[in-house]
Amino acid sequence: MQFDILTLFPGLFAGAFEESIIKRARESGSVTIALHNIRDYAAGRHKVTDDTPYGGGGGMIMKPEPIFAATEAVLGEQADMVPVILLTPQGRLFDQSVARELARHDRLLLICGRYEGVDERVHRYLATDEVSIGDYVLSGGEIAAMVIVDAVTRLLPGVLGDPAATFEDSHAEGLLEYPHYTRPPTFRGHPVPDVLLSGHHAEITRWRRQQAIQRTLERRPDILSSAHLTEEDLAYLARIEASG
Ligand code: ADE
Repeated sequence: MQFDILTLFPGLFAGAFEESIIKRARESGSVTIALHNIRDYAAGRHKVTDDTPYGGGGGMIMKPEPIFAATEAVLGEQADMVPVILLTPQGRLFDQSVARELARHDRLLLICGRYEGVDERVHRYLATDEVSIGDYVLSGGEIAAMVIVDAVTRLLPGVLGDPAATFEDSHAEGLLEYPHYTRPPTFRGHPVPDVLLSGHHAEITRWRRQQAIQRTLERRPDILSSAHLTEEDLAYLARIEASG
């Protein structure tokens, strides 16, 4: 997977892409991440990338020319094959299924908006997709781009050591994760649940599944209806709903 990120602040990405899983994914060649400074594609001696809005009102708007020029220069002949994703609070909401969808592509170009907004011509005639990472307003799309790169990268084959780990993750099956414990068996008077120390694998699996269902019911009932539940899961759910 190749990510091309267009930004006015490439320095923001240092760190996020230079540690841990993303660092290893880059080193192994699973992902390539190229940062492109939009300012390098702005015309004139002053390299202006923003301007005041037509019609008045406060704030500055990112000009279309440098963003179009950067996208065209970066994608070249691949221009019509690569999704051009504008990060904006107006986009479709990013979630695990969008991450899975994006992970199917070989290359993605992410445009980070800044200031009060981006000229509408970028939304309409350049972006092929618009994505928001949540219903809040960030100072720009950079952190949103980091979120997308992270969530997509860990889905790529070979990036996580254990393929089961991705599968069992929160949201992967539409359920929140069950609680995890490690040593010590009692910490400040709080014990690890007996079942986890019992060595009964089938019971541990059942307990974890039930905990995941219970947790999802308590914390995210909105996602429960789209979870993949077995007959046994549904029976358990009915029991806790009746007793709750
Ligand atoms: N830019 C500013 N806020 C954003 C958000 N919530 N998602 C994506 N890009 C953004």
